[in-house]
Amino acid sequence: MSVPTTMRQIAERADVSIGTVSHVINGTANVRDKLRLRVLEAIRSLGYHPSQLGRGLRRKKTTMLGMIIPDITNPFFPAVVRGVEDVAYKRSYRVVLCNTDNDPKKEISYLNDLQAYSPAGLLVIPAAESHITTLLRSVATSGPPVVCIDRRPTGWNGDVVVVANEEGSYAATQHLLRMGHKHLAVITGPVHLTNAVERLKGFRRALAEERVPIEPEYIQEARFDRRSGYPAAMRLLRLVPRLTAIFACTDLMALSVCLAARELSLACPDDLSIVGFDDLDFAEFTDTALTTVHQPGYQLGATAARLLLERIDGSKQRTKRVVLSTELMVRQSASPSREKAAATRRKQSHGQTVGVS
Ligand code: RIB
Repeated sequence: MSVPTTMRQIAERADVSIGTVSHVINGTANVRDKLRLRVLEAIRSLGYHPSQLGRGLRRKKTTMLGMIIPDITNPFFPAVVRGVEDVAYKRSYRVVLCNTDNDPKKEISYLNDLQAYSPAGLLVIPAAESHITTLLRSVATSGPPVVCIDRRPTGWNGDVVVVANEEGSYAATQHLLRMGHKHLAVITGPVHLTNAVERLKGFRRALAEERVPIEPEYIQEARFDRRSGYPAAMRLLRLVPRLTAIFACTDLMALSVCLAARELSLACPDDLSIVGFDDLDFAEFTDTALTTVHQPGYQLGATAARLLLERIDGSKQRTKRVVLSTELMVRQSASPSREKAAATRRKQSHGQTVGVS
């Protein structure tokens, strides 16, 4: 097994001081080209790779950003992580990614483990049943800066970057109401997650404005994913009178509504209008292109990383809650209710009759 090369060996090989080797490796002072080239040649010939971690641990701060997320296999999160990584890379920071699987114990153990590596900062998308606020607060007070993304842990008053969930859901629900749907339901996420609470609020506000009553069974709680969205969709589609529209608070749950509708021989949008939330890449390619609320996952990550780097650089500005806009993407999975469509046809034919005479 090869013995690790030390800076002393490089200094001897290049016939310079250890301090000169350190300045060349760390770029901490100008070194005459002649000496610098001798050091670089010695590094190459001895096969030396400076230990970023060793240097960082000595300085008590590495160039590592820790990122804790629920699950990278959920198609929403990769864009968020990529946004973080692109911003970090430009500033020579490297990202270590941890998946909690929405397990609060795993989340806490990751948070503790990451601290042992003296990260320069932490980015956290809390788990569904997260209990990390107390630990996050103590980390952020004594250790590296922390920015939460997408959901704000209960009681967390630190930096957070989210999207306009309430406004996005309001727009989605209003879209269905304007198409004449009165029997419309919502499948939401875990009701203690701030983004799920905000999306349900947007749904309720749109119905209240139109004075459309909300039957309790028309609000189904799920876990943002397909597995939990499917039984919720089946419960809704067995209600009488039958629903004519469902707003699912994620595209993954909207997919499960499409599946349930197909199994019940309900055509989308003729028998059932469906709207989602996220605007994942597949949304415009589903059987009937999905009307959904676009949330900028990449920008969520990039914005959070920029805010974290400001904190790492010493910014003492007051805590920030950054809210990115959402946008309703109208496609084909939602159409006017049968009543509305018939009324429109009557108006048109009436208009044509008047027009003919
Ligand atoms: O599962 C995807 C959902 O979880 C997205 O809507 C995103 O906001 C995250 O919270």
